[in-house]
Amino acid sequence: MLVTQHPVLRRFWYAVMPIKKLDDGPKPFTLLGEHIVLWKMSDGTPAAARDRCCHRTARLSKGYVEGDNIVCGYHGWQYDCTGACVKIPQFTSEKIPSGARVDAYRCQEKFGYVWVALEEPLLPLIDTPEEGDPAYRRIHQFDEEWKTGALRLMENSFDTAHFAFVHKGTFGQNNQPKPEFFEIRETDYGFEAEAIVPINNPPESHRITGSTSPTTKRHFHNQWHMPFFRRLGLVYPSGIHHTIFTCATPIDDGRIQIIQWLYRNDTEEQCPAALLNEWDIKVVAEDKVILESVDPDAPCDVSLLLEQHMPSDRPGLLMRKRLLALLREHGEKETLSVTHTR
Ligand code: FES
Ligand code: CO
Repeated sequence: MLVTQHPVLRRFWYAVMPIKKLDDGPKPFTLLGEHIVLWKMSDGTPAAARDRCCHRTARLSKGYVEGDNIVCGYHGWQYDCTGACVKIPQFTSEKIPSGARVDAYRCQEKFGYVWVALEEPLLPLIDTPEEGDPAYRRIHQFDEEWKTGALRLMENSFDTAHFAFVHKGTFGQNNQPKPEFFEIRETDYGFEAEAIVPINNPPESHRITGSTSPTTKRHFHNQWHMPFFRRLGLVYPSGIHHTIFTCATPIDDGRIQIIQWLYRNDTEEQCPAALLNEWDIKVVAEDKVILESVDPDAPCDVSLLLEQHMPSDRPGLLMRKRLLALLREHGEKETLSVTHTR
């Protein structure tokens, strides 16, 4: 599915960057192939608009913020958060033409990130009980660009058959190529998946898991939220909750912005955030090498037989089925990359 070719994908919320990044001025982002500018208004709330001035097309992200408005760096035209041009400094008595405006997008801050929906969202932005609960701390893990497809990252997040290979350097057990237990239940937003997989617990992860046992059975309670959002819920036998949220925000058909944060019900003294991030970044770096080697375009229509499958691919196959149904419900036909040849 070439994500930039499907308008329905514009109807979801996507995390685009930590809100802190807007402290020193506007920033550009590309979401589903659309160039947008993000800025922070005087009350601290973020705003998003098309990154193209309606005067001579300059990137507004090259400009600056004045009060609540974004100012074009070329001739100083100013736009408010609705995209309306509210000031043309060269005008003295002339009226601002009604066509002087840029597209603006729905934008909000949540969990410390800026979220954008290019069009009327089909689902509300998620909530989670950990947020705001004093028993939990929220830790920003990383925010970076990967050269892969959003669906590729999502299906990898639920694929328990890759641990023994991709993660043999961290927690994977090479004699465990498939999970011991796996169950999946469809929901309105996507699905919930439960898995039990025997894994290694090397010394580097002892403080993270709160256990010194060399091996453990990892019990996953995960959720997939359409289209490209994952919640990974781990409860270690030590009683520590380790809940990861991962966004595969589609930049275009070949790139994603991967944004990840974590909730823990322990303290910085028990396990420093730097240590947690070091471990999780090491694990995802293993995924990155492989995911940047796959064709970024994952075909949703499995009847085309463009890829082979195995039973443990069920989560990914269910994602494809649901995404294909979503396209069809909105009168769209899947567009595929020309790289798919039989
Ligand atoms: Fe933006 Fe002229 S191009 S003000
Ligand atoms: Co992995």
